[in-house]
Amino acid sequence: MRGSQVQILLPAWFKTILIDRSHPLNPFPSCGFVSPQTLVPRSLCYTQVAKHIPVLVMLEQPQSQDFEHKWPKYYQAVLGRPPRPTLLAALERFETPGFAVDLGCGEGRDTVELLRRGWRVLAIDGNREAFDRMLGREDLQNTDNLTTKVAKFQAATWPQTDLINASFTLPFCPPEYFPELWDKIVQSLPPGGRFCGQLFGDRDDWASIPTHTHHTQEQAEKLLEQFEIEMFRVEEEDGKTALQSPKHWHIFHIVARKR
Ligand SMILES: C[S@@+](CC[C@H](N)C(=O)[O-])C[C@H]1O[C@@H](n2cnc3c(N)ncnc32)[C@H](O)[C@@H]1O
Repeated sequence: MRGSQVQILLPAWFKTILIDRSHPLNPFPSCGFVSPQTLVPRSLCYTQVAKHIPVLVMLEQPQSQDFEHKWPKYYQAVLGRPPRPTLLAALERFETPGFAVDLGCGEGRDTVELLRRGWRVLAIDGNREAFDRMLGREDLQNTDNLTTKVAKFQAATWPQTDLINASFTLPFCPPEYFPELWDKIVQSLPPGGRFCGQLFGDRDDWASIPTHTHHTQEQAEKLLEQFEIEMFRVEEEDGKTALQSPKHWHIFHIVARKR
């Protein structure tokens, strides 16, 4: 203990913050110390020093776990971004266009590219607004080749396909459904068919979110046992989300061909 500051070993989601007793948003005006169990909105956290008292609070989870309401903001934030490099790497390995399933297609950055290259596409997403965005895009062409489906991965079905593209989507599948989802992916690809997309690693900041699915590198490689791996790139860095929140990313970028 130094002055009025207390030093305690805390898990990663605890932060020492300064909170102003007289701040209008402070719900604990009489407290000099907020119990570690108290959830305090991020809006209360600020770091001016004058007239502040040091307290320990448990922040809300580092990232809100309610992703559903964030997707429309995400679609807006990534507007106009190019197709994912994993999709491009998979496409350059096909001699002719075929039929692709874009799982968790979002606002359509990859679906647009597939259609532009003459592929037939079944675009699936659990959020209806993804399709409002996609169907309003000026660069969307060859729409006769497009079928859209609002469905959760857990319940979605699709026919045999040459390519499953799952860009930054599979980690959002709840863990209890992931094995079945992965099995559907593998079973719907014939020999020579490809999977491309991302899995998130165990050191990713979101790995602690119980409704998300993360894998160690060993687990990710095991999932790909029935595939010949054409790309397995590990990315690990401190960065930001599309909505500009700081985040430690641990990502496996994958392109793989079914044996
Ligand atoms: C990070 S965005 C990726 C969108 C797009 N593939 C891209 O690369 O930008 C994740 C998408 O997955 C969808 N998604 C998340 N969980 C889902 C689930 N359980 N079932 C179906 N779609 C889901 C979201 O609605 C969102 O559009």
